[in-house]
Amino acid sequence: MFSLLGFFVVCPVDRVLKFNQGVITLTSSSERLTIRQPDDWHVHLRDGPILKAVVESTARVFRRAIVMPNLNPPIKSIDAAVAYRERILESLPTGVSFTPLMTAYLTDNFPEDVLERGYIEDVFSAAKLYPAHSTTNSEDGVSDLTVIDSLVETMARIGMPLLIHGEVVDPDIDIFDREAYFIENHLSPLLNRHPDLRVVLEHITTEQAVEFVEGSGSNVAATITPHHLRINRNAMFAGGFRSDFYCLPVAKRERHRLALRRAATSGKACFFLGTDSAPHTRSAKENSCGCAGIFNAPNALESYIEVFEEEGALDYFEAFASEHGPAFYGLPLNTSSLTIVKKTQVVPTFFEVVNATNSIEKILPFHAGETLSWSIELDQ
Ligand code: DOR
Ligand code: ZN
Repeated sequence: MFSLLGFFVVCPVDRVLKFNQGVITLTSSSERLTIRQPDDWHVHLRDGPILKAVVESTARVFRRAIVMPNLNPPIKSIDAAVAYRERILESLPTGVSFTPLMTAYLTDNFPEDVLERGYIEDVFSAAKLYPAHSTTNSEDGVSDLTVIDSLVETMARIGMPLLIHGEVVDPDIDIFDREAYFIENHLSPLLNRHPDLRVVLEHITTEQAVEFVEGSGSNVAATITPHHLRINRNAMFAGGFRSDFYCLPVAKRERHRLALRRAATSGKACFFLGTDSAPHTRSAKENSCGCAGIFNAPNALESYIEVFEEEGALDYFEAFASEHGPAFYGLPLNTSSLTIVKKTQVVPTFFEVVNATNSIEKILPFHAGETLSWSIELDQ
């Protein structure tokens, strides 16, 4: 338990990672895997008490993370991004080295000069495209890709990555088809107009997305979440409505989950780790209009590694978790390392956020109460 600016966070597990700085000797056996420290290329850290409650889960494992800008209000200026980065750094536990990589929230009229300056000055690592009304806090997002065509042209010119929530919002399109429809009718034409644009199709959920990314040039990549590798759409309806498994894009049929598992464990450089960890409090999830999002940060790495083990692809785990992302973003590989051991752990059933008025809010993690077979090595 630690106290921060009037809020405190009850952490069910008190763990400190051991990172060996400097030259890395990578070792592996079926029981123990030492890899270059990974990065999370897509995470929601939120703000205020929730930020303080969740940031440690990400920072204790990942050296860097691409931080989503869909706050309320969203991150639409250089100053807002700098201030948010400061709040994240202030919320870190002592002694943890973690670099938040900030993103700009695109709108129909985002000023081109601000976007370019933010990228050149190393404040924005990328820009995030939310189709308006597609997900949490996306009301100010982009109404149509053609409206921001000149902004996109600037991004292609300066090499700034465009991170895309790839779904249409048209209620006439079935929710399970919205990603495939977006790819065919919006993303493909966008890349035809701007063939050199660097694009990350975020949190892909379909075999159509896998095929599209595989068939594109090296300027197009995709992140894959642990939950889309672990659950299909049935999880949302197992014995009743299970809002804990509701996220966007929604999990699809089993054949799509299997396509994602093949992609993630293929060793192909166009696929890399992005958890899309998206915490919401119980009251926001258990609601007649519940929020989309799965808080997987506390055990994301352990969840991913089980998939790689099940697919007989542990040899590719480090590339997916620690190498493909930096290569795409043109950033150096981390020099610190992390060891994961074959040791079971039971995932906490909830995390608690206690606010200044002393009311307690629960946030449920992915795999709550389940036993995972790998654990990150702890300090003795
Ligand atoms: O499930 C999701 N939750 N998908 C998103 O795109 C946004 C995220 C959130 O911010 O809650
Ligand atoms: Zn997200």
